[in-house]
Amino acid sequence: MAEAYFTEQHELIRKLARDFAEKELTKEVLDQVEETEVFPEEILDKMAKAGFCGIKIPKELGGQGADARAYVLVMEEIARVSGVASIYVSSPNSLSGGPLLLAGNDQQKEKYLRPVVTGEKKLAFALTEPGAGSDAGSVATVARKERDHYILNGRKCFITMAPLSDYAVVFAKTDLTKGNKGLSAFVVDMHAEGVSCGKPENKMGVIGCATSDIILENAVVPECDRLGEEGDGFKIAMQTLNTGRLGVAAQSIGVAQGCLDEAVKYAKERKQFGRPIGSFQAISFMIAEMATKLEAAKQLVYKAAYLMDTKQDATLNASMAKYYASEVCNEIAQKAVQIHGGYGFIKDYKIERMFRDCRVFTIYEGTSQVQQMVIGSKLLKK
Ligand code: CAA
Repeated sequence: MAEAYFTEQHELIRKLARDFAEKELTKEVLDQVEETEVFPEEILDKMAKAGFCGIKIPKELGGQGADARAYVLVMEEIARVSGVASIYVSSPNSLSGGPLLLAGNDQQKEKYLRPVVTGEKKLAFALTEPGAGSDAGSVATVARKERDHYILNGRKCFITMAPLSDYAVVFAKTDLTKGNKGLSAFVVDMHAEGVSCGKPENKMGVIGCATSDIILENAVVPECDRLGEEGDGFKIAMQTLNTGRLGVAAQSIGVAQGCLDEAVKYAKERKQFGRPIGSFQAISFMIAEMATKLEAAKQLVYKAAYLMDTKQDATLNASMAKYYASEVCNEIAQKAVQIHGGYGFIKDYKIERMFRDCRVFTIYEGTSQVQQMVIGSKLLKK
């Protein structure tokens, strides 16, 4: 049934991404990433050269000009092998590239998006604050206008890739009286005076892509680096998060597929009571449930991507896909560890990393509960 959403071209892209992941993201490389907490630049270069960092960015900006379905397939195949590697694919294509694609003018896209697609620069998305997580509209960072520039003050937190980034799209209030309609978006130079990062967070998973606070202390941002009009920020953030949520959903089905593959392999190899453990109904029923839920999650993800590609409103479906796929991924990872028994608890087995990596999928880019709010409000709206 998934085939209905894809062309032969899509399948070729899937194969390209799968071959890349299997060749480049070896266990040795991924173990080293866990140990050093650094993702190798040479693999990031290869990912950019393969076109993954701009898979759905228009060709005029150096991207591949492919569609959301192609993006989902690349994300899925990379995440099947490495959750953290898939963040480097999703960032330019969705969260950080998204605001520029939605609201950037030609100069802004040329200056900030093109180098991200080619892998020369990194860009972060900075919305969340210590007091503004799920309630994104309550951002307290302020952008005060002065002649031809803004002065930004505030603190962003949990910002993926902040310590590695050259620029960040920062959301700040230009009007404190207007709630979420007073929010505006700016591209901030991470090396400018008044801009600094907190210490990298010590995370449970997706190790190898540093996360930290961004601190803004009288940071001067030229007016020409504002994206869209004053007050457009919330809409830009929400629309960007729709594609972001599709990316997390794709990551989720990728990691879940990786977990299922490992569980099936182990269940065939591991013998107890004189037979492979997969021949016991207890194990085969767990695998049957994992595979069925994964297939259902895939259909939601592919449909959301298809709606985006056919220019239909995908807000509801992107939230459904993110909600279900990320929850199911955690369930599948948990069962895959269970099937591995004691070995699943040991770092030598890939499944231990996958179990930790996917924990954040139900949290970042809108928790499962925020997705339920979006779905519920769409359905109950008059
Ligand atoms: N797509 C398009 N428009 C949307 C939207 C969406 N997903 N969600 C809301 N909007 C629009 C609404 O239609 C509404 O438009 P009008 O003003 O024209 O009517 C406007 O935005 C305001 O909507 P609400 O009144 O529903 O806004 P709210 O303040 O009640 O918040 C919310 C709604 C869904 C909870 C929103 O705040 C939200 O999505 N919160 C979660 C934020 C989030 O995902 N943060 C993740 C940060 S990024 C990250 O995690 C990455 C990392 O680096 C770790």
